[in-house]
Parts: sequence; structure tokens; C-alpha cells
Amino acid sequence: MDRFHIVGGAALRGDVRVSGAKNAALPILFSTLLGGGLEIGNVPALRDIRTALSLLGHLGIQAVSLPGGEAPFVALDSAAEESGGWSGHFRLSDADESSYEAPYDLVRTMRASILCLGPLLARRKRARVSLPGGCLIGARPVDMHLNAFVRMGANISIDHGYIDANTDGLVGCDIHLPYPTVTGTENILMAAVLAKGTTCIFNAAQEPEVTDLAISLQSRGARIEGIGTSSLRIEGVPEISSCVHNVMWDRIEAGTFLVAGALLGEPLTVHGFDSSILMSLMVALSEMGASFESKDSSVTVRRIDSPKGASIRTEPYPGFPTDMQAQILPLMAIANGSSTVVETVFENRFTHVMEMNRMGANIDIHGSRAFVRGGAVLEGASVMASDLRASAGLVLAGLIANGETVIQRVYHIDRGYERIERKLEALGARIKRVREEAAP
Ligand code: EPZ
Repeated sequence: MDRFHIVGGAALRGDVRVSGAKNAALPILFSTLLGGGLEIGNVPALRDIRTALSLLGHLGIQAVSLPGGEAPFVALDSAAEESGGWSGHFRLSDADESSYEAPYDLVRTMRASILCLGPLLARRKRARVSLPGGCLIGARPVDMHLNAFVRMGANISIDHGYIDANTDGLVGCDIHLPYPTVTGTENILMAAVLAKGTTCIFNAAQEPEVTDLAISLQSRGARIEGIGTSSLRIEGVPEISSCVHNVMWDRIEAGTFLVAGALLGEPLTVHGFDSSILMSLMVALSEMGASFESKDSSVTVRRIDSPKGASIRTEPYPGFPTDMQAQILPLMAIANGSSTVVETVFENRFTHVMEMNRMGANIDIHGSRAFVRGGAVLEGASVMASDLRASAGLVLAGLIANGETVIQRVYHIDRGYERIERKLEALGARIKRVREEAAP
């Protein structure tokens, strides 16, 4: 397993471009199971994307890498990516619709595999998907997904850790979500596209990634109203066709670099930044003393000389994103004054705090609340990454710590950030990836 070695204190200056959004690309890729094919661009070179393309291959979807290489997609290894083997542009077609099983060994590595359930049920009327287990940040059940499909006419049983589902044909109905679940909304939306009649999803997630999926489906002939709101109305159609869709920029990667700029920017400009969908983060950073220069799809930010504390509550969009909670903590840790973070989305999303406290932060956790005493001087340490966004928070902590920080298990970060160490190094950070064979 690779490690990052970071020597803190280097200023970050210049330009960085964010990649396509993992959490938009994943549902859009799985939507190819609805049939009709798809040409998709701006797909980031990430582990989770490779896993999704491998799972789709297993389910009879052929992915051809464009432009140039017409070779069918193979799970590119990072070496191939380094040699530019990853164009980020694919044509996908449903070559074979006979299979319907998403095996455990693929689903266990990526919870988002649950997103194949809705489209498989809608198109192939059968699905057998390994039940995604919990993960470190929470139990993360999928009851809301399953309850909705039962209401739409699916027969669902859980058998030896698998979701076994079949239907004579999904029928549209009203779905009232108890919580605006992101992948739940996406799963039900995709199923509704081919269901008979009208489906209304109330209390739907409004995350921009849900909107990106809906727009891609609409471009393929789906009939969806209320896109971007908490009430989606879908008129089922017999089938959809292909389209060319470029995935939106990754707002969480953009937010991560924005915090990096607030910590060390001299200045730092983030390209592919849509401030209208990161307002809650920008408000919090402004409260801490940050100032921004926004222009078209970029924003420039400088290091905050004397950051102030702040209070944030993570919430479904458009609230403060839970996926940005770990990244803002290092700035709070060094701020003049205290801060509080209330994590309302997941029940155990403070695993990074213990590691940050080992670096000298003063953060107390009481249930879903983190109380941050500011004024810390972080010291480099050997720390363990535990999940994707926790890893990003530890990288930011390492960038401002005195001395060297070694982050183990960076495969977590590779799930959601495209070669983050390359992007940071280009900005002036002293960060190196040490491959396992070379790591002592
Ligand atoms: C999506 O996860 C994202 N993943 C997560 O990003 C993100 O943190 C999360 O939304 C919240 O924004 C993808 O889009 C692939 P939820 P998802 O369903 O859909 C509970 C990352 O770092 N719940 O909105 O799984 C659940 O337990 C990842 O990129 C149920 O109880 O999140 C949680 O407490 C991490 N029953 C809350 O709702 C259900 O059936 C929100 O979960 C579904 C959800």
C-alpha cells in the first residue's frame, strides 16, 4: 500500500484544475444499464471509476476508450494512467443484457455499486446485488432504496448477503423519502425512467451530482421535471437512447483545494470551480477570514493570515457538505478562537480527528459534535488514512504541520482524488508518493 510523505510549510501558488466528479460519473455510468448506450467525457481516472467500469463489463456493458484507442476498456492500472492511457472519454454500449448479478468481490470495494439495482430492475427486470456492508463512517443501510422499489412493484428478498430482486415491470408511484438520500434518489430516478406511468419522488436529494445524472437522462429521452429541486416527477418511457455527456467538475475536490489555498495560498487559483454550488463552504471560509476572487469557472484564494473560528453543521445540499468536514478541520485547529462542527449526515464521521489530535490539534468529540480549540501548532507524524475524505483532511493537516507527515493507506484517497500529490506538487507542496515496494 502506497504512502504519502509530506514536509509541511511550503506555500501553494499557481493554478490547479479539478477533475470530473466521481459522484456524478458513477450514477451516469450505471445508467447505461437502462440501455441505449452513452458517450461520456471528463471521467476522472479513479479507483472507483475503474471498479464501476469493471462491474459494468461483468454486466454486459462494453466501454470503449475514446478518442484514438478503440480498444475495449480494460481496468487500467495506475501505470497506464500515468502513461496517459486514460482519456476520460468513453463510449458505452449494452452488448449483452443477459446477466443481472453484481458480485460481492466487486460490490465490497465500492458501495456505490448499489446504483446498478434500479436500472437492472427497470430494464432487465432482475437483479442480484451483493448487499453493501457498512463502512467506517456509518452503517449506511439501503432500506430507502429497497422500500421504494417494492412500492414500484419489485419482489425483493435478502439471501446470503445478496439483494435478490425481480419484477414483472416497475410501475410509477409516489415515493416519499424519509431522508434525501443521494444514491437512493439516483437509484429510484433511474428506475422511474423506464417504469410504467408517473413516479414522483418527494424529499429527493438536490445534490448537483443528482442534477447532472438527471440532465444526462433527459438528454437521452427521459421525461423528468423538477430537476434540481426536492420534488422530481418522472414520466416513464419505453426506452431511452444515447447522448454525449460531459461529467460536471468535482465540487468536493474543488472545495478541498479551496481550503488548501486558505491554508497556504500565495495565491492559489482553482479552475473548474462553480461557486454557486459551493456557497455553504465559501460562507464558512469567509467567516474564518478568507477572501476570494471569482472569475468564470475559477476562484483565487490566499492564505488567511489570522483565521477565526467558525461553527458549521453538515447537511444535505445546499447545506455544508459532509464530504468537506474533514478538510476544514485543520484550518479550524490552527484558527484563533474555537470552532464547532456538527456532523448530521453520518453517525461516525470523525475518525480523522484522532489522527489530527496526534498531530497536535485540540478537538473533542461528543457524539455528533466536534469542539475545536484553536491555536494549535501541528507537528508532522505518521498517521493512518481511514476513508476517502478523512485522507484528504490528513493531507491538508500534513501540508501545514512542522516537519514530516507520513500518511499510510493512501489507496483511500485514490478512490476520489486523481493523483492529488501531482496536483499539489505542481503548486509547490513537498509531497511524495512512496510505493509499497519502495516503502521500508
Ligand atoms: C453519497 O452517499 C455520496 N456517495 C457520499 O460521498 C456522500 O458523503 C453522501 O452521499 C452524502 O452526501 C456517492 O454519491 C457515491 P446518503 P450515499 O444515502 O448516497 C442514511 C464520498 O466521499 N440512509 O445520502 O450513500 C445513511 O445511512 C462519499 O465521495 C439510510 O438510512 O449517502 C446516511 O446516514 C462518502 N437509508 C444518510 O442517510 C438509506 O436507504 C445519508 O446517506 C439510505 C441512506
